[in-house]
Amino acid sequence: MAMAFSSVLPVFLIASITCTMAALSPDPRDFFADKIKGNITKITWAHAVNSKKELADALADDKIMMIEADISLGFVPGNSNVTVPIMAHPPANESDLSLADFLNATLKKSTRGIKLDFKTIEAFNASLPILKSNREKMVVPVMLNADILPGPFSGDDKPVDADQFLQGAKQNFPECILSVGWKTQYGVMSERYNGSYTKEQIQNMLETLAKNKINQTVTYPVRAALAASDITIMTELIKNTKNYRSTLTVWSAVGDFVDRKNLSTFIKTVGVDKTYVDVPDIVWKDLNLGSSATSNLASATLMIFSVIISTFGLSNLA
Ligand SMILES: *[C@@H]1O[C@H](CO)[C@@H](O)[C@H](O)[C@H]1NC(C)=O
Ligand SMILES: *[C@@H]1O[C@H](CO)[C@@H](O)[C@H](O)[C@H]1NC(C)=O
Ligand SMILES: *[C@@H]1O[C@H](CO)[C@@H](O)[C@H](O)[C@H]1NC(C)=O
Ligand SMILES: *[C@@H]1O[C@H](CO)[C@@H](O)[C@H](O)[C@H]1NC(C)=O
Ligand SMILES: *[C@@H]1O[C@H](CO)[C@@H](O)[C@H](O)[C@H]1NC(C)=O
Ligand SMILES: *[C@@H]1O[C@H](CO)[C@@H](O)[C@H](O)[C@H]1NC(C)=O
Ligand SMILES: *[C@@H]1O[C@H](CO)[C@@H](O)[C@H](O)[C@H]1NC(C)=O
Ligand SMILES: *[C@@H]1O[C@H](CO)[C@@H](O)[C@H](O)[C@H]1NC(C)=O
Repeated sequence: MAMAFSSVLPVFLIASITCTMAALSPDPRDFFADKIKGNITKITWAHAVNSKKELADALADDKIMMIEADISLGFVPGNSNVTVPIMAHPPANESDLSLADFLNATLKKSTRGIKLDFKTIEAFNASLPILKSNREKMVVPVMLNADILPGPFSGDDKPVDADQFLQGAKQNFPECILSVGWKTQYGVMSERYNGSYTKEQIQNMLETLAKNKINQTVTYPVRAALAASDITIMTELIKNTKNYRSTLTVWSAVGDFVDRKNLSTFIKTVGVDKTYVDVPDIVWKDLNLGSSATSNLASATLMIFSVIISTFGLSNLA
């Protein structure tokens, strides 16, 4: 009797430890499931959280679900000799917030997801040891983002090396969501930037992911001003991505000219279950993402339909 007990106990202990261990980098759709009920446009973002002050504000705001920030190589005050991964958007090369401090603060709470936007391959490489040492604490959604290909109006702005980024992310963080996009014009996009992502740019992305044998969850960040002008091409991108649960992330720079009506149509066409929306409040407040149907019955029917479709879609992909 006593012997049976002692041999069972360790097994029980191991099992219970395994069960209580949270999954690394859960999908936001699972992590925030109770709050969003499958509608990922409900996920709220704090964008360009690149200083101690902005981080403290974002962490104090209970409405914020995802914290997005930029990573460059640069200096923290008091150490102007060594470059480290800092939270900053080029051309800034100094920040009071290092990546190490950012992770320390965001991962301690375990209530917010994070999206890390790496501005250069050098910054990504230098970040890897810091990210790896925090890996077990990444029990919140973690998106690793880089603009890895040239896109509309990208000019001379060099993309992050696609193969190096994808291999580094895949080998070290197969559980994280890859957020991979195209370089676009730095600064504000006025009304005259009336272009869109091209078929060639979309194809280039699909081939780059295939070449690197990427099979983890992918989200494609697309700039609202450019995406909203061509719905067909973006729905094609999602349709042709075999990756498990792929999505789009619509983002916008402060001051970009964005056609609200087109963007609303765009998001609803791709689906509110497939489009994260990280745009400034001034754009967000003008969006109309409800179904156009006026009666509750009609919208309930639509909801049931979209549940059926997404279930179908998932079983097709898996
Ligand atoms: C930075 O480097 C300079 C010259 O290499 C050296 O004199 C100085 O002490 C260093 N400062 C720090 C804070 O390490
Ligand atoms: C950092 O940026 C400032 C302002 O643009 C510039 O003067 C300085 O040379 C830069 N430092 C380094 C080491 O690149
Ligand atoms: C993380 O933050 C805590 C205080 O909030 C501090 O004591 C600790 O040294 C920090 N760790 C790192 C690695 O910065
Ligand atoms: C980044 O790291 C990878 C893997 O170690 C290496 O092959 C590559 O040369 C590095 N890139 C740069 C720009 O340092
Ligand atoms: C885009 O802008 C160019 C230059 O201003 C103009 O010639 C062209 O007609 C515009 N295209 C559309 C679709 O609005
Ligand atoms: C992705 O591929 C690797 C092998 O390259 C495999 O171990 C892993 O299970 C695959 N993951 C998914 C989600 O299919
Ligand atoms: C809005 O969509 C219409 C119809 O697809 C298109 O003709 C127009 O160029 C779009 N406007 C902008 C600013 O994207
Ligand atoms: C999705 O969420 C947005 C933001 O809360 C809301 O405006 C919209 O009505 C929702 N759409 C559906 C179809 O549930």
